[in-house]
Amino acid sequence: MSDGKGAVGAGHYPSLVRNEALKSNGYAVSLVLRGHKAMPPFGRMLSDDQVAAVVNYIRTHFDNDYTDAVTAQDVKDAR
Ligand code: HEM
Repeated sequence: MSDGKGAVGAGHYPSLVRNEALKSNGYAVSLVLRGHKAMPPFGRMLSDDQVAAVVNYIRTHFDNDYTDAVTAQDVKDAR
C-alpha cells in the first residue's frame, strides 16, 4: 500500500514500516530479484539501476533509516 503498511486478507503482505529485515541490503535485493512465496520476482522486469533505486527507497522511507545504499553493481553481482 502507499503507506508501506502491508495488508492482511486474501494473503499476508508484510509491513515495510520500521522493518528490521531491511537492515541487510542483500536480503531486499534478493527478494526483489527473485521474489519469495507470494511475492513475485522482478529480476527480468527491472534494470540493475531500478532494483537499486526501489531497494534504497524502501530502506530510507517508511521509518527505515538504513543509509548504506545499494549500487547497481551490487544488484548485478546478486543476479
Ligand atoms: C518492487 C516492488 C516491491 C518491493 C520493493 C517489495 C519489497 C518487499 C520486501 C522487502 C519484502 C520482505 C518483507 C519482510 O521480510 O519482512 C516483501 C515481501 C512480500 N511481498 Fe513485496 N515488494 C514489492 C512488490 C510486491 C508485489 C507486487 C507483491 C504482490 C503482488 C508483493 C507481495 C509480497 C509478499 C506476499 C511478501 C511476503 C513474502 C514471504 O512470505 O516471504 N510484493 N516485499
